[in-house]
Amino acid sequence: MTARILVVFGTRPEAIKLFPVVHALKADPRFECVVCVSAQHRQMLDQVLEIAGIVPDHDLDVMQPDQTLDALTANLLTGLGKVMDAVKPTRVIVQGDTATAMSGALAAYYRKLPVDHVEAGLRSYNIYHPWPEEVNRKIIGAMASLHFAPTTTSEAALLRENVAADRVHVTGNTVIDALHWVTAEIERNPALASGLADLETRFAGKRIIGVTSHRRENFGEGMEQIAQAIREIASRPDTAVIFPVHLNPNVRKVMNERLSGLDNVALIEPLDYPHFARLLAISEIMLTDSGGVQEEAPALGKPVLVMRETTERPEGVEAGTAKLVGTDARRIVTELSTLLDDKTAYEAMARAHNPFGDGQTSRRILELLANEI
Ligand code: UD1
Ligand code: UDP
Repeated sequence: MTARILVVFGTRPEAIKLFPVVHALKADPRFECVVCVSAQHRQMLDQVLEIAGIVPDHDLDVMQPDQTLDALTANLLTGLGKVMDAVKPTRVIVQGDTATAMSGALAAYYRKLPVDHVEAGLRSYNIYHPWPEEVNRKIIGAMASLHFAPTTTSEAALLRENVAADRVHVTGNTVIDALHWVTAEIERNPALASGLADLETRFAGKRIIGVTSHRRENFGEGMEQIAQAIREIASRPDTAVIFPVHLNPNVRKVMNERLSGLDNVALIEPLDYPHFARLLAISEIMLTDSGGVQEEAPALGKPVLVMRETTERPEGVEAGTAKLVGTDARRIVTELSTLLDDKTAYEAMARAHNPFGDGQTSRRILELLANEI
């Protein structure tokens, strides 16, 4: 009997981390894969769907400009519930900690459908950092049938919360599968990542810092501080900043106001995944508050300064390839300057370190799913 697996996602990072699972499910006759996107993100989701060649079976198209968490969550819950009633899946898969993932898990639970959690057990132990993701993933963890923990650290967190040991599996993180896949695609067709060529020429000879930022808890003063730090570091003649700016208006407004027109700063539109992989490759340092970039940058041997107070991904910090620097402008500039000016400090961080998997995570997940059917 084939099992009908409904894969639910809605934002850029979920799409990146679930396309390898969708590819694997679609290639495996034991499963029928049905894809439902909430489109909590629109353009940034569509960039991933296109590159991964995924055409969703259901698209709720819920994104509204500057959407509130309560309106978004209400729409997601009712919309995803209706899709589940129509599809009647055997199991539902969600990933991570977004509003879509939490609502997808809840809608499945309300129908007593088993819901499996990809990237389970990440914990910062601070419900406001990151907000609201820390609570979203705990809610999903309370309902999940299978918990696919990326590392033994996340496995241990779930066991401490009394999740049954036989439901928790260390699988690695599918982000490494995604990174391997996109790297192979670029090798096959370099044009997929050639769109940064003009910027690479403009900044030739400079040391590039790649930046991303979008955390809700950094809105307001945090974003102002981040912009100030970028202004200061970009005043160095040897340094350039490439910053694909998230489409959230709370990010764009500040960054456009504070950073437009600077010689050494390129504020650009969100990059599709192959181009972001290229940005990682040409950057000397990544400065970010993103979750996924904390996994990708260490895997590629790029030091990553994390503009947060806490992280649910301590593996990079413990290995010395990631460092928490908060959002104080002075601190960020000091830490960046150290990496730029102190070769020993740079080399201590610039080691490839990959606790997040070997690129075989989706394959493991499929075998674990197969045991359930
Ligand atoms: C969401 C997730 C966050 C995740 C992040 C990844 C929640 C509560 N937040 O945050 O966990 O880390 O995505 O990027 O689930 N927008 C566009 N086009 C897009 C995407 C966003 O215009 O393609 C704008 C819209 O105005 C939208 C706003 O950004 O209302 C916010 O989007 P939303 O998904 O609510 O929050 P993010 O900050 O993107
Ligand atoms: N990313 C991308 N283009 C960009 C910025 C990021 O493809 O312009 C990718 C990045 O490689 C990572 C993911 O998006 O895999 C991270 O998404 P985001 O920072 O939006 O969310 P988070 O990981 O913090 O939830």
